[in-house]
Amino acid sequence: MDFENILIEKEGNLAIVTINRPTKLNALNKPTIEELNQALKQLEKDKDTRVIILTGSGEKAFVAGADIKEFSNFGQSAGSQLASKGQELLFDYIQNLGKPVISAINGFALGGGLELAMASHFRVASKNAKMGLPEVTLGLIPGYGGTQRLPQLVGKGRAMEMIMTAQMIDAETALNYGLVNHVVEQDELLDFTKKIASKIALNSATAIAKAIKSINANFKENVNGYHEEIKNFGECFETEDFKEGTTAFLEKRKANFTGHN
Ligand code: COA
Repeated sequence: MDFENILIEKEGNLAIVTINRPTKLNALNKPTIEELNQALKQLEKDKDTRVIILTGSGEKAFVAGADIKEFSNFGQSAGSQLASKGQELLFDYIQNLGKPVISAINGFALGGGLELAMASHFRVASKNAKMGLPEVTLGLIPGYGGTQRLPQLVGKGRAMEMIMTAQMIDAETALNYGLVNHVVEQDELLDFTKKIASKIALNSATAIAKAIKSINANFKENVNGYHEEIKNFGECFETEDFKEGTTAFLEKRKANFTGHN
């Protein structure tokens, strides 16, 4: 399928999805969110794809937020719809995807851009990256999960300050806060992220999917994360990957995981 606002490249078992609206600093409008949802659905089904990397086109921005022009004349109902549809199609979708999604933050990650990065399973940033949730400068609050995921990642006090002041933080501060896992030079960002992704791709995809579910359970209301872990742990024993992983260990060779249940 052809997309207008995103690019997809496949390199072996990695897929790189680039948000590609550079003249609008890759702002997320409705068509871009829908295309990302379709692309992620395809990549989820694609047996060859083990890890997905999200990034922004150009050197300036990852994503500079939701498209302000698109919602400037909305009322309450349209505003709520925007947030709920966006969360369903993209942000929750990514968080719950069974394949690892890593955001490579190559510049501004503001508002919906930082929310997109935070919905990913983890983040790597380039030195020039700037991150923030500036919604209160527009008379808004974050609506794509930012009020929930930012405190989970950086702690309540820092999240309160970042959201109330609307200040951007630089990549080093984000590293210090635990918002990103690594900071590298901009021209090394994709290669560095691909190296991490390639290491992940060597491991059991079925086990990784169950690890994502179990870790996410820690942040879900009315779900007992320990019970979820026990359930997923048990299920691993019925997979081909488990047989291969343990057999390979006992035979003193590297495992060759097929990712089959
Ligand atoms: N929505 C829609 N368009 C956006 C956008 C957004 N979130 N962020 C940037 N753009 C557009 C600008 O309108 C401009 O378009 P134009 O050339 O047609 O006028 C283009 O992208 C370039 O942005 P510009 O503001 O000229 O770049 P800059 O280098 O001066 O400033 C930023 C960069 C990121 C500081 C600034 O664009 C900005 O503050 N953006 C909004 C961030 C925000 O509030 N995001 C949260 C939204 S909920």
